[in-house]
Amino acid sequence: MPDPRSIRRIAINTGGGDAPGLNAVIRAVVLSACRIGWEVYGIRRSYDGLFEADGVTQLVPARVQGITHVGGTILGTTNQGNPFKYPVTGPDGKTRLVDRSAEILTTLRDRRVDALVAIGGDGSLSIAYELFLRGLPVIGVPKTIDNDLDATVLTFGFDTAVQTATEAIDKLQSTAEAHRRVMVVEVMGRYAGWIALHSGLAAAADIILLPEIPFKIDKVIEKIREREEHGQPYAIVVAAEGARPYGGDFVTRGGSELGREIRLGGIADLVARQIEQLTGKETRSLVLGHLQRGGNPTTFDRLMALRFGAAAVRYLRRGAYGRMVALRPPDVLTVPLRQAISQRKLVPMDSDTILTARSLGTCLGD
Ligand code: F6P
Repeated sequence: MPDPRSIRRIAINTGGGDAPGLNAVIRAVVLSACRIGWEVYGIRRSYDGLFEADGVTQLVPARVQGITHVGGTILGTTNQGNPFKYPVTGPDGKTRLVDRSAEILTTLRDRRVDALVAIGGDGSLSIAYELFLRGLPVIGVPKTIDNDLDATVLTFGFDTAVQTATEAIDKLQSTAEAHRRVMVVEVMGRYAGWIALHSGLAAAADIILLPEIPFKIDKVIEKIREREEHGQPYAIVVAAEGARPYGGDFVTRGGSELGREIRLGGIADLVARQIEQLTGKETRSLVLGHLQRGGNPTTFDRLMALRFGAAAVRYLRRGAYGRMVALRPPDVLTVPLRQAISQRKLVPMDSDTILTARSLGTCLGD
């Protein structure tokens, strides 16, 4: 690995699903790096840009002006571009997964890139770690609306997603009450229930279903009936997309595609149908979906993203290769990438937020 004092040029990419705050990280990295005399190059669409003639672009301070508050990513992203398992369609029309990592390393070397700032969730950071093991100096920045990275107290993007979900659930309260209906809202989060728990609690949902607590439909029905007995003939259910019935499986959309993770989705519809059947109450379901990934980042996420971006450059300068910046309040420090990707952060059953939900009488399906 190079002496950090010899770094002159770095690259940056954004991988996996987008999250509000990506642009703020890019801006912080570019401004911090340019101030110490480094050049910064942006790779388009995760690593895909390295396979294309015009897929790498120089980022100077003027290119990142006015983007702190803008959602999405000026570099583009993809969650299908794992260079170690890259889907390539052959002349026979069949798609196979091919290891193209050597091309990535060669292209970066040819472009005289000394280090990479990889912004991503567990999937993208696992790729970054593999590239590090093959000799690329890398530092990771934790991104995901799901907040499921264990080594950091928070990821940027999560706060904005929770804010969006909370506002949506707030709006459902009045229509649920007006029609005396049960509304079942499905939120993202993959196999972790952070978005569901935080938004559901903040928006005073009656029932919150999390991947961490397989639910019993009887408990859900019991809560709806209890509300009715107390003169509240309507209810709001927030279901994480990874919630599943006790003894049952995750609900998924479509089949598994080559080189892609299985897509979760459909649990709200399933739960709504069961509620309607078992209670006779009119029940509607909706999926918030990608609304949670869009829009401007909240103040909290902007700050988090700017702090992570500036820290990535500071730590690279100290030679923190193969590490990820992480929030350990009040500090931003680094942890080994291997540790960062080793396990998913799930909602702990003894966490204060879970205890709060239980104290308030929120049904968690158990
Ligand atoms: O990881 C972020 C996330 O938004 C998950 O919450 C969700 O399951 C998934 O990505 C959706 O991915 P896609 O954009 O491919 O539909």
